[in-house]
Amino acid sequence: MNVLVTGGAGYIGSHVVEELKNSGFVPIVYDNLSTGHADAVPEDVLLINGDIHDLDFLEHIMGEYEIDAVMHFAASSLVGESMENPGRYYYNNVAGTLSLLDAMRKAGVDTIVFSSTAAVYGEPEKWPIEEEFAVCPTNVYGRTKLMIETMLADYDMAYDLRYVALRYFNAAGASASGKIGEDHRPETHLIPIVLKTALKSRNSVSIFGTDYQTPDGTCIRDYIHVADLAVAHVLALKHLLNGGSSKIYNLGSEKGFSVREIIETAKKVTKVDFAVSEEKRRPGDPAVLIASSKKIAEELGWKPTHSEIEEVIASAWQWHKEHPQGYEE
Ligand code: UFG
Repeated sequence: MNVLVTGGAGYIGSHVVEELKNSGFVPIVYDNLSTGHADAVPEDVLLINGDIHDLDFLEHIMGEYEIDAVMHFAASSLVGESMENPGRYYYNNVAGTLSLLDAMRKAGVDTIVFSSTAAVYGEPEKWPIEEEFAVCPTNVYGRTKLMIETMLADYDMAYDLRYVALRYFNAAGASASGKIGEDHRPETHLIPIVLKTALKSRNSVSIFGTDYQTPDGTCIRDYIHVADLAVAHVLALKHLLNGGSSKIYNLGSEKGFSVREIIETAKKVTKVDFAVSEEKRRPGDPAVLIASSKKIAEELGWKPTHSEIEEVIASAWQWHKEHPQGYEE
């Protein structure tokens, strides 16, 4: 089975490529390398340098490589940037996906696993968050991902395109293979920032907001190991290839940790002390995001097995220690 993985040179995409290979699929990566890394793609996996806006090229590739299904990760994914530069997000995420879906339709590919986000929920008043909760994104990034979910539902109705949209909470950690990990430029995510500080490539960690309505005043998130995310993608793909209907699932560990707890755990795991400063809130951050992953557990049998917070941070630490410059070495 040949699976076209758009954005397969990115953080989550590359971990899914590894899992697809381990599960007997043939991943073919399609990435314009604007934020992805060629070195994140295994040597025995074909990497096609292409853009998702190039509908004709996509259609050609899908025919030439007899693609059975698509996994779609290619996107702009920084919340802050999406507020400052909304056009980039509507163009890359919404228009780019429209081009991908039309290429699939022309090439006769009718199966897609889509990388969505907890950001579609905005700021829910209760948790754990279930898929049936109201969607109300508070930032452009979340709105573009929600628009894509709507497009997928409409293409399913009109053209029988079947999809699984996976709403990730906070992806973290790195592959046990030691070959791939998280390397965003610029880095904005908490765990890599904390670990880079432990490595002394940054001076201190800023806590964004200490006056939230949470036990220690800092934001609470649900950190899910990228290896567990990867397994969920393969389960979703198998569900569709077995004729299953379109679905939306949350992917989280169902446990929440505050920013302070992440910092304390990282100090324990790394055995390094580092400076921490308290800053004002970062605009658009909800206080608490914790998933219910009951639906995918019941329907597809998914269960995270690497998402204890110490294991998540230890695996990320291993990657950062061995690759202090990320993929640049
Ligand atoms: N944080 C800090 N200091 C930092 C970086 C982050 O205190 O230097 C805090 C943030 O304010 C937030 C928490 O750490 O409370 C986690 O922040 P991240 O940037 O690591 O992750 P987010 O929760 O903002 O974003 C993640 C994904 C997005 C997705 C979103 C869904 O990275 O793609 O969850 O809400 F949209």
